[in-house]
Amino acid sequence: MHGITITQFLIEEQRKVGSATGEFTLLLNHIVTACKRISCAVNKGALVGTMGNLESENIQGETQKQLDVITNDIFLEANQWAGYIAGMASEEMDDPYDIPEKYRQDGKYLLLFDPLDGSSNVNVNISVGTIFSILHSPQGVTNPKVEDFLQPGTRQVCAGYALYGSSTMLVLTTGHGVNGFALDREMGEFILTNPDMQIPADTHEFAVNMSNQRFWEAPVQRYVSECLQGEEGVRGKDFNMRWVASMVAEVHRILIRGGLFMYPMDSKLRDKGGKLRLMYEANPMSFIVEQAGGASSTGRERILDIQPSGLHQRVPVILGSKNEVGVLVGYHRT
Ligand code: AHG
Ligand code: MN
Ligand code: MN
Repeated sequence: MHGITITQFLIEEQRKVGSATGEFTLLLNHIVTACKRISCAVNKGALVGTMGNLESENIQGETQKQLDVITNDIFLEANQWAGYIAGMASEEMDDPYDIPEKYRQDGKYLLLFDPLDGSSNVNVNISVGTIFSILHSPQGVTNPKVEDFLQPGTRQVCAGYALYGSSTMLVLTTGHGVNGFALDREMGEFILTNPDMQIPADTHEFAVNMSNQRFWEAPVQRYVSECLQGEEGVRGKDFNMRWVASMVAEVHRILIRGGLFMYPMDSKLRDKGGKLRLMYEANPMSFIVEQAGGASSTGRERILDIQPSGLHQRVPVILGSKNEVGVLVGYHRT
């Protein structure tokens, strides 16, 4: 099948903007290369003995998997040398990465990423992914500090994820809709397979870790119990449930067939602020979901409007089909 490669797509998009210098396209190309490398690393997995846990913990106190660290290094390596990026930060690093002096040249962009999302699934052969978010680096800043990264999600220039599933896919937004590309392994190229992805406004499928039910707040309790009542209940329809425990896989499913995904606030997460990280999980996914016609909220505010206070800040997340998110957000108001 002959299709549009991601490079061709990006260059054509760039032409539409007119003023673009091509730097951004090159930057994205390096991210694409990193995702291809990660796809190979994740695929080889057990064959090269990289499925295990490490002794180390990341800043979130989570035990790191070998592949968390390997994929983090791949992303840093692929993106540090070209000079477009002024700074990088990731789930797996306490502080922003110090780009070596020899590569620094007034980069315009900041890159935030979760190199391996859903890593608890990696050794059981369930889909995992990579999430990234690109911001402008504040003018005149050559060595960005944490505060330079703390920009609300509305300021993202681009967000995307790679899903290492039954096929490898890359899904991107630059604020003009959402497009999906599948990796053709023989060609080594991502090909546009899902142009202008749109999330259906209505759904009867939700995704939540039900084992946390007793810790949830009242609005979420009400929402889920009403879903479970099915056709006989107030919602008047039967619901289906999915939980992959890889946010990338859940968001991808929602982009394809709709749904509501949530990792809501619960009483054991209260001190942490939530489960998912704002800067490299919630913000990029919210940007993508909104660009595909969906909605994303903490329950009490739009995620993209949050003024971040920390690189590893956590937030409650409710996202997906617009009308369904509207129902649950409505319950938070009453
Ligand atoms: P990560 O692997 O990057 O730490 O993220 C895992 C996240 C997210 O992808 C997923 O939705 C959630 O954690 C799963 O949480 P549970 O283990 O509580 O189901
Ligand atoms: Mn993650
Ligand atoms: Mn991760």
